[in-house]
Amino acid sequence: MRSLVREQALRPADLVLPMFVREGASENRPISSMPGVVQHTMDSLVRAATEAVERGVGGLMLFGVPEHKDALGSGASDPEGVLNQALARLRFELGDSTVIMADLCLDEFTDHGHCGVLDERGRVDNDSTLIRYREMALAQAEAGAHLLGPSGMMDGQIAAVRDALDAEGHLDVALYAYTAKYASAFYGPFREAVGSSLQGDRRTYQQDPANGREALRELELDVAEGADLVMVKPGLPYLDVLRDVAEASPVPVGAYQVSGEYAMVEAAAANGWVDRDRVILESLLAFRRAGASTVLTYYASEVAGWFAGGLPDHLREFL
Ligand code: PBG
Repeated sequence: MRSLVREQALRPADLVLPMFVREGASENRPISSMPGVVQHTMDSLVRAATEAVERGVGGLMLFGVPEHKDALGSGASDPEGVLNQALARLRFELGDSTVIMADLCLDEFTDHGHCGVLDERGRVDNDSTLIRYREMALAQAEAGAHLLGPSGMMDGQIAAVRDALDAEGHLDVALYAYTAKYASAFYGPFREAVGSSLQGDRRTYQQDPANGREALRELELDVAEGADLVMVKPGLPYLDVLRDVAEASPVPVGAYQVSGEYAMVEAAAANGWVDRDRVILESLLAFRRAGASTVLTYYASEVAGWFAGGLPDHLREFL
């Protein structure tokens, strides 16, 4: 009877797997604060991505870990840069069998670790950053990305990137806007995952955890500027924001279960304090209940595998 009246369900196709690829790596590097997640080599990226797609995940979100960084984040727009190379390789291997996404942000590529370029006083300069985002967007589109995820929270970034794509004929490359992205301590393990060089924080461009209303203003702006999907991030601590955005949004809404959320589940599970698999499915279901069409989660491939194999007995309550 519980199954008969259940309101929400999980489908592998709703899940997006974020993946890290490291330039010049000859073997995988584990990320200590995210047990089970690695910085991939190009070949292991292809293997893991292929497996995830075979299990039915809806998409892959790629992050690059470059060998060299500079003030402008040159590697981000270089066709030979690690992220663009990985996009090209995945598009070649996987074609249109899944949605290939790229994080569109400079922080992995800048030596100061900020999401944009800095002015002479060391502050992030919004409008010169947009010029770099346009260049980065074109490089990602040319490499074969289907869906670009501008995640820098710069004002006007969606309009700028859409304009650059349209001007070069990339009419069918879509935008997944990180619309309501909070200045969050839950991104902690991600810093290790991408070898971030950030000193300080991103409070001048990411949202204040105290505020909900401005998420709706960001939504209005991103939709007007041409966003095709919008995202709320982090996930579980912001389900109220997700619900508000989902109710107001004319386009599909996603949520990102971020690195710190993953790390907390893994740490508690390793201590035997929670039932890992059930906690994972319960949290993913919570995103669906709050209104997310898609969920970005480091568990995407593993969970898709559970469904592909028919859920094991202890998880059948989720069918
Ligand atoms: C920015 C970006 C970040 C994350 C995704 N894209 C880091 C930040 O904004 O500080 C965090 C993802 C996670 O913590 O899992 N490129």
